[in-house]
Amino acid sequence: MKILKTIEELQEVRKNILGTVGFVPTMGALHDGHISLIKQARTENDIVFVSIFVNPTQFLPGEDLDAYPRREEADKKICEMCKADYLFMPEISSMYKEEEVLIKAPNKSYILEGKARPSHFDGVLQVVLKLFGLVQPTNAYFGKKDAQQLTLIQQMVKNLFLPINIIPCPIVRESDGLARSSRNVYLTAQQRKDALLISKSLYSAANLIGKKEISVEAVKNRMYEVMETLDVEYVEIVNREFDKIDTIEIGNTIILVVARFGNTRLLDNIWL
Ligand code: PAJ
Repeated sequence: MKILKTIEELQEVRKNILGTVGFVPTMGALHDGHISLIKQARTENDIVFVSIFVNPTQFLPGEDLDAYPRREEADKKICEMCKADYLFMPEISSMYKEEEVLIKAPNKSYILEGKARPSHFDGVLQVVLKLFGLVQPTNAYFGKKDAQQLTLIQQMVKNLFLPINIIPCPIVRESDGLARSSRNVYLTAQQRKDALLISKSLYSAANLIGKKEISVEAVKNRMYEVMETLDVEYVEIVNREFDKIDTIEIGNTIILVVARFGNTRLLDNIWL
């Protein structure tokens, strides 16, 4: 695996590649969720690029940009183990200039995650578009864990006519059900235990729906019951376009949860 630290190195490498290119953008502190994306990219492409870039424009003032876990050496080993061909780790100063062409995410980016973190998705789309311009992937891999991010990237690719396939990948969980996240390291032992109620609430929702419950209200109520002791920021049930719905429709429904543990927000969801 070759590590590319500058834009020039990446562009030099990219112009000589003829086959299919799989791309996994990340912010590092790699875990099993990222690994599953890289492995899938490996099986489906001739060449695999991973990027690690803690993107400042998607963090709001007061968020954890400075504290965001950075584990460069461990991450390099993981990418190597997953047989990535190139790991791109650019400096902030090379990715952003003083004056930038900005990306404005659509109105739907200002609900749910975008309501809690206004302009977060503008920053996500901006950096993903830059990375797409550099890597020019055939296939780009994103986790369903960040459901709203995935949906907005799919919309960007469609609206801007980018010739890139966006590949949604399943959520990877710890053996007890907690969705893998780089931010799980912030949890105390007790919070880690309590956080299990998030996936539990999603399983109980799926269970209820399996018993033919289709009322969104009933499903939400059950989930709030399960998470009674948690600081739940929202439970929302939407269709694949992220419109709120009243009735569950199998094949076109996503159930989203965010709960807070001190300053840490944990996201989880299931796609029905
Ligand atoms: P990051 O949080 O590092 O996540 C990188 C990719 O890994 C995203 O597509 C995310 O959905 C996926 N991922 C994270 N946890 C996962 C899990 N438990 N199971 C499956 N996939 C998982 O998302 C970002 O970085 C950034 O916003 C980025 C797209 C890189 C732009 O800066």
